[in-house]
Amino acid sequence: IAVDPFDFVIFGGSGDLSRRKLLPALYQRDRDGQLPAEARIIGTSRRKVTDDEFQKTAREAIESFVPKADIDAEVLERFVARVGYVSMDATGSDGWGDLAKRLNEEKDRIRVFYLSTAPNIFGPICEQINAHGLITEKSRVVIEKPLGHDLESAQELNASVGKIFPESSVYRIDHYLGKETVQNLMALRFANSLFEPVWNARYIDHVQITVAEEVGLESRAGYYDTAGAMRDMIQNHIMQLLCLTAMEVPTSLDADSVRDEKLKVLHSLKPMNPAQVAQNTVRGQYTAGASTKGPVRGYLEELERPTSMTETFVALKAEVGNWRWAGVPFYLRTGKRLPSRVSEIVVQFRPIPHSVFDDSAGQLQANRLVIRVQPDEGVKLWLMIKDPGPGGMRLQHVPLDMSFAKAFSVRSPDAYERLIMDVVRGNQTLFMRGDEVEAAWRWVDPIMDAWMSSGEFPKTYRAGTWGPSASVALLERDGRSWHEE
Ligand code: BG6
Repeated sequence: IAVDPFDFVIFGGSGDLSRRKLLPALYQRDRDGQLPAEARIIGTSRRKVTDDEFQKTAREAIESFVPKADIDAEVLERFVARVGYVSMDATGSDGWGDLAKRLNEEKDRIRVFYLSTAPNIFGPICEQINAHGLITEKSRVVIEKPLGHDLESAQELNASVGKIFPESSVYRIDHYLGKETVQNLMALRFANSLFEPVWNARYIDHVQITVAEEVGLESRAGYYDTAGAMRDMIQNHIMQLLCLTAMEVPTSLDADSVRDEKLKVLHSLKPMNPAQVAQNTVRGQYTAGASTKGPVRGYLEELERPTSMTETFVALKAEVGNWRWAGVPFYLRTGKRLPSRVSEIVVQFRPIPHSVFDDSAGQLQANRLVIRVQPDEGVKLWLMIKDPGPGGMRLQHVPLDMSFAKAFSVRSPDAYERLIMDVVRGNQTLFMRGDEVEAAWRWVDPIMDAWMSSGEFPKTYRAGTWGPSASVALLERDGRSWHEE
């Protein structure tokens, strides 16, 4: 169904995010018939280009980043005609009058200000938007990570945006929340009666969350070396996945009901002191090795620096200190230049209490639920079944396998499509509230501080392997192992 008329202003309109994600997402939703005829998209940046030239940029972005099969010439013309451009200095004074003039042609529309810029100017841009009288009742602002680099900077950022926009108009994107399977985690848990009764420490042995990437730095060396895997992936995406896995059933899907429950999980995470950090966390940095596409350079070679303390891999053991999860470890793992791109949540159930089968060959394995976020989105529930045929009661561990691609013949939308439309609709459920972001940093900061004060360099691992061997040892010590298929 089409949404209400809106103007979508992209600060940093010709940047990478805009071209790769935002414009393609808006195009896809136009193709799906969700954009009203009046909707306008206005790119802004310092570059002095005309509407026509920016339309050309938009067209090229669609042609490069939307799958060929989804390009419909008629929709593309209609889409490009919605696009306009204002050249402006987002933190200075140039160009604001032009933007105001365009926006004020249609005062009653929903206004989205998408700040696809460096985070240090989020606050100043909000000030300018306000100073030029552009905030209407139906205005919303969208910001995206990095949302601070520690608790203090996150608080400052929240305060600077919060001075201008009320929390109900601030949309903090974590694009993992827009991924289909991540939303499916809520469907799986809360639309089925099967899982909730066993979703606790009594029946669950441990949980693993892995977000593995095959890529290296992808020309983002400057940013990445100041961030590292903890800030880049754990503090946001992986902790959001952990929240959705561990949270209590919200009273409804209202934004605050869901976000209150996620916040409680973040507050329940047991803080780690330096000794616990040394024991429960592993940092790694890749050296030269191979990807599926051939030989690849090491992190330092890509960075072109002789040394760096930055981690490209983290594995850690977290604990959610509440009644539901007491004593259940959550093993989190992420890294660049791992053997393949895999994001999944693995819920390992406890073994049966007593076996009536002859298990001298040790085939009996506990149930395991694997929620595959990407690629090959789907859910697998590993069960013990009898091996068919003669030979007596031979048991096998096999998955009940539900591949979303096979079960549904519709295309799987990109995370940004859903998120952008939710901004326009004014639905904040899949966006992080300011206090969540701060709570995540509050848990992460002492870990990073302990790493820094230990003075230890990350352990090396060869590109194309599953990280330092200490990551395997982290689970082995507990008599467990990382899920592998
Ligand atoms: C981003 C990180 O937030 O997420 C990148 O900054 C990472 O380093 C990316 O590659 C992974 O996203 P996706 O959607 O490809 O899993």
